[in-house]
Amino acid sequence: MNERVVIIGGTSGIGLATARRQLSEGRDVVVTGRSPERLQAALAELSALEGAVGTATGEVVDARDEAATLRFFTGLGRANHVVVAATGSTAAGPFRSVTTDALREASEGKLIAHALTARAALEVLSPGGSLTFLTAASAGAAMPGTAGLAAVNASVAAMVPVLAVELGPVRVNAVSPGIVDTPWWDWMDADTKAETFASYAKSTPAGRCGAPEDIADAIAFLIGNSFTTGVVLTVDGGARLSSGA
Ligand SMILES: NC(=O)c1ccc[n+]([C@@H]2O[C@H](COP(=O)([O-])OP(=O)(O)OC[C@H]3O[C@@H](n4cnc5c(N)ncnc54)[C@H](OP(=O)(O)O)[C@@H]3O)[C@@H](O)[C@H]2O)c1
Repeated sequence: MNERVVIIGGTSGIGLATARRQLSEGRDVVVTGRSPERLQAALAELSALEGAVGTATGEVVDARDEAATLRFFTGLGRANHVVVAATGSTAAGPFRSVTTDALREASEGKLIAHALTARAALEVLSPGGSLTFLTAASAGAAMPGTAGLAAVNASVAAMVPVLAVELGPVRVNAVSPGIVDTPWWDWMDADTKAETFASYAKSTPAGRCGAPEDIADAIAFLIGNSFTTGVVLTVDGGARLSSGA
C-alpha cells in the first residue's frame, strides 16, 4: 500500500506543487481547500500528471472549522504525512491602521488553522509519520507593514520544536519560504507585485524569487528524512542574509 500524504490547502501554489511532487514519488495524495472549483481543477491536473505513481483525491474542508476538519481526518482513516499549506489573510499595512478584526482573521486563518489541523490529524497519523507546517520568512524579516503577518507566522514556527518533543515519534517540522510566485500574491495589483518581486530578486543572493517547486522540494526532504524533526527550514534564496534579519 502506498504511503498517503494529506495536503491541507493543496489546491494551489505550494500545496499543489507538493501534491505533484509527492505523487511522482509514489505516494497517494489527498488535497483540501475551501473552493470546490479550485479543488476540481487541482484534481483534474493531478489525475493527468505524467509519471505519477500514486492516486490523487480531495475534499472541500475549511481548515478553520474544527468539527469539519476532525470529520475529514476521521473519515480518511489513515495518513502517513500531513502538510498544512493553508493561508491566512495578510493583516498587512502600517501597524497603526491594521484593525483588530484583521489581526483576528489572520490568526484564525493561519495559527488556529494549523494548530487545529495538527490536533485533528493525530487521530489518524501513523507513529512514524510527519506533520509539516508552512510559516514564512516574513516572521523574522523586520519588514515595516508586516507586523500581523510576522506575528502569525512566528507563532506557527514557535509550535514546531514544542510539538516535535511532545508528539514524537511523529515528526514535526516547518518550511519558512521567502517570496514564492503563487496565487497568494493576487491581492496585490500587478504593478506593485512586479516591483515587489523584482526588488526581492535583486536583493537576494539567489537572484530570483522562489517557485512553488522549490518549496515542494524542501517539504519532500522533511517528509522523507525520518531523522529530521523540530526543524524550521528557511528556503528564501538567501534573502535573510541581505536583510540582516
Ligand atoms: N507565496 C509566498 O510567497 C509565501 C511565502 C511565505 C509563506 N507562504 C505560506 O505558504 C503557504 C501556501 O501559500 P501559497 O503561496 O501556496 O498560497 P496559495 O497559492 O494562495 O494557496 C493556498 C491554498 O490554501 C487553501 N486555503 C486557504 N485557506 C484555507 C482554509 N481556511 N482551509 C483550507 N484550505 C485553505 C487555498 O484554497 P482555497 O482558497 O480554495 O481554500 C489554496 O489551496 C501559506 O501558509 C503561506 O502563508 C507563502
